[in-house]
Amino acid sequence: MTARDRYVDLLVGCLTRELFLDQEDIAPEIRAEGRDWPATAETMVGRRRLDNVRLAVETVLAEGVPGDLIETGVWRGGVTILMRGILEAWENPDRQVWVADSFEGLPAPNVVDYPDDEGHDLSGVTTLMVNAHQVRANFDRYGLLDDRVRFLEGWFADTLAPAPIEQLAVLRLDGDLYESTMDALVPLYDKVSSGGFVIVDDYGAWEPCRRAVENFRAERGITDEIHEIDWTGVYWRKS
Ligand SMILES: C[S@@+](CC[C@H](N)C(=O)[O-])C[C@H]1O[C@@H](n2cnc3c(N)ncnc32)[C@H](O)[C@@H]1O
Repeated sequence: MTARDRYVDLLVGCLTRELFLDQEDIAPEIRAEGRDWPATAETMVGRRRLDNVRLAVETVLAEGVPGDLIETGVWRGGVTILMRGILEAWENPDRQVWVADSFEGLPAPNVVDYPDDEGHDLSGVTTLMVNAHQVRANFDRYGLLDDRVRFLEGWFADTLAPAPIEQLAVLRLDGDLYESTMDALVPLYDKVSSGGFVIVDDYGAWEPCRRAVENFRAERGITDEIHEIDWTGVYWRKS
């Protein structure tokens, strides 16, 4: 195993706290599948979906698929910390990592415009409210906070369309709701390079998210094959 692989493995083990599970009362399989809301880990995404992030980022680097990396819905920032760490491990000099979140949790469902979100109100859940200062501190903890980490603070509907993103190689959606998924796909999908990855964290677990993806793909005539990652995550590569 190369030093690069060992570093990325170590990063995943730390970000998930998988390396320290003996200090927590949680079954390894639960954490590996990302089924819990961990007390201290920087991501609630488990190892299987983080391995997929790694596959996506390393593939675009190896194949030279152009563009930056983004996650829409970062919580404590773990997935984007991993993205930045992989760029570091590959000594990539220029790609940026975009970190998009309200940094105050989910919006209340707007059931007038997005009836699919009815009954899915997580807006008051304080565990999901992690401010940008805390997420920057999490990047800093790993020595990965620099000017190639670009924060987009606010609701996706306000921040993503005007963001100065030119091209994306990896677009990872993790905003749970129909509205949040659509608000990311509409302004960003056309910026994804051919050969780039579109990853949807909540496709299996959240019916509104799955419907948003299905409707968007139908409207746009997207037939690229959807690959299952685990019980909830999926991805496709843009043809
Ligand atoms: C399930 S968490 C993301 C988990 C994260 N990817 C991880 O690695 O643990 C969902 C995040 O999406 C954000 N979010 C959801 N809808 C949003 C919207 N419309 N605009 C901005 N942020 C949103 C929430 O603030 C929350 O941080």
